[in-house]
Amino acid sequence: MLVLGIETSCDETAAAVVSDDRRILANVVLSQIAAHQPYGGIVPEVAARAHLDATDVIVGQAMAEAGIGFGDLSAVAATAGPGLIGGVLVGAMTGKAIALASHLPFVAVNHLEGHALTARLIGEVPFPYLLLLISGGHCQLLAVEGVGRYRRLGTTIDDALGEAFDKTAKLLGLGYPGGPKIEAKAGAGDPKRFDLPRPMRGRPGCDFSFSGLKTSVRRTLETLNEVSETDIADMAASFQLAAAETLAERSRNAISMFKESHPTGRHLVVAGGVAANRCIGGALAELATAEGMTLVVPPANLCTDNGAMIAWAGLERFRLGMTDGLDFKARPRWPLDPDAPPAAFAGVKA
Ligand code: KG4
Ligand code: ZN
Repeated sequence: MLVLGIETSCDETAAAVVSDDRRILANVVLSQIAAHQPYGGIVPEVAARAHLDATDVIVGQAMAEAGIGFGDLSAVAATAGPGLIGGVLVGAMTGKAIALASHLPFVAVNHLEGHALTARLIGEVPFPYLLLLISGGHCQLLAVEGVGRYRRLGTTIDDALGEAFDKTAKLLGLGYPGGPKIEAKAGAGDPKRFDLPRPMRGRPGCDFSFSGLKTSVRRTLETLNEVSETDIADMAASFQLAAAETLAERSRNAISMFKESHPTGRHLVVAGGVAANRCIGGALAELATAEGMTLVVPPANLCTDNGAMIAWAGLERFRLGMTDGLDFKARPRWPLDPDAPPAAFAGVKA
């Protein structure tokens, strides 16, 4: 079984081919970083145009690398949301067109489900598992019960963690995308120098809040006369440690909740771009060991946006008969657990 996956929901144009025996035959990612760099962040209109230019080329490249033709595919999967709608439309339309022209089933994939199921592409990870999804747009803890079956345990009441990394990097003059730059600077910094807050610490549940952490970075920087290279490294390290400790503290609560509701679950899975961060990985590894859980962190190139995760989620859905019509509408918003109650304290100034 071979499935083509197309991903265009943010600032990467990506296509990949994966098999049901977990082989990645091709995984091509074209980053738009250079196109957005002058603006210090992602510009949706620029992203949509770049996807329009690149998607068919990247799909062609993936098929060539895999050494197959469309006729060899079992299905075509494309991200149909959530994300920047211009880009999502380009990828979804491309997937539908290939499916129509090659008489293949089409699978509309939720980008977040792509991140959520990546762990099962790299190894034997049975349902249920606890998922910590940390990306540029999302920061959530979910019980993954099966394909298409998610229970949200906690989410952020303000910024996503990747967003907090990106905004902090901007404050430090490190540019976009901030996560990898903060991690690089932090390597030479003193994580104990600045005493940043650990938002939501001690509160019940496992919701997150990161906007205060970013504000605290800004205020602290304002107290420095001149920001030196050492200050930048120390702040990057202090921020990264605060983020890692906060994640670990909130995830500890989530593990208790998960063990209660899903006593057979043994795996803690981390997904999304921020999962590539090694300091965060270290904090979560310590937590998993203490809690008797097995930690699964996909390799960095499968944590950040890619086509393989969409192809794999498409394959998981396809083999359960979950295909979609060509009239499936792209969605800017598409929660994994639409029935989840709003985050605790959301909208309440604490
Ligand atoms: O999953 P992703 O590629 O795109 C979204 O779906 O949002 O995540 C992108 C986010 C960005 O905010 C980026 O700064 C962050 O992941 N990121 C990192 C690292 N690599 C990427 N954050 C911290 N450390 C990293 N090494
Ligand atoms: Zn993503």
